[in-house]
Amino acid sequence: MTFAIPESVKIYSQFGHPILMWALLATSLYALWLGFQSRKIRSADPETRKTLIQKDVKQKHYVTGSLLLALMVMGTVGGMAATYINNGKLFVGPHLLVGLGMTALIATAAALAPWMQKGNDLARYTHIVLNLTVIGLFGWQAVTGVEIVQRIVSKL
Ligand code: HEM
Ligand code: HEM
Repeated sequence: MTFAIPESVKIYSQFGHPILMWALLATSLYALWLGFQSRKIRSADPETRKTLIQKDVKQKHYVTGSLLLALMVMGTVGGMAATYINNGKLFVGPHLLVGLGMTALIATAAALAPWMQKGNDLARYTHIVLNLTVIGLFGWQAVTGVEIVQRIVSKL
């Protein structure tokens, strides 16, 4: 039995990924800010420390980070699915490869959580370096991503 995906679904499926990814870029900057706020708890004066603990920045960072991780994995797989549905193939270019790389980096960074919670400094620095790399690459993905959107729109 053959199953054909309706043309309208094919077309609209191409816009879900770019919209989600722009939202995730903002979310990752928020996670970055929360991460450095929770880092500050250790070195801050008692008054600031109290305020940061009351604001629950550690837990907020963990929750935001978990959401970011899950949506980035889904968003990457979704981008590949939409590309395949519309083109019958994937384009092994910078956007695909950098995207897969970013997903691997953020998953590895998240997996360090148990050691960070025990206060392991190596895990903390690795987490920060991996995630700063993810944010840097995100800027690049946004540029190449918008170029792909322009190509799709010009063909409509
Ligand atoms: C944009 C991505 C992210 C950035 C820039 C970031 C940054 C940071 C920073 C700066 C810290 C503080 C380290 C310290 O205390 O010295 C931290 C801690 C932590 N992060 Fe992230 N993070 C990101 C994503 C995530 C993700 C995806 C997860 C997990 C799902 C996560 C879980 C944690 C945990 C559990 C801690 C330790 C908090 C504690 O001390 O209890 N982060 N992160
Ligand atoms: C930030 C803004 C981004 C925009 C505007 C954007 C835009 C796009 C567009 C328009 C496509 C083609 C979809 C289609 O043909 O239906 C695409 C594909 C894809 N995107 Fe993104 N993207 C962005 C970020 C990301 C990020 C952060 C990742 C991964 C972490 C990612 C991973 C992918 C992958 C793996 C594909 C499939 C590429 C292929 O096989 O050619 N994108 N993106």
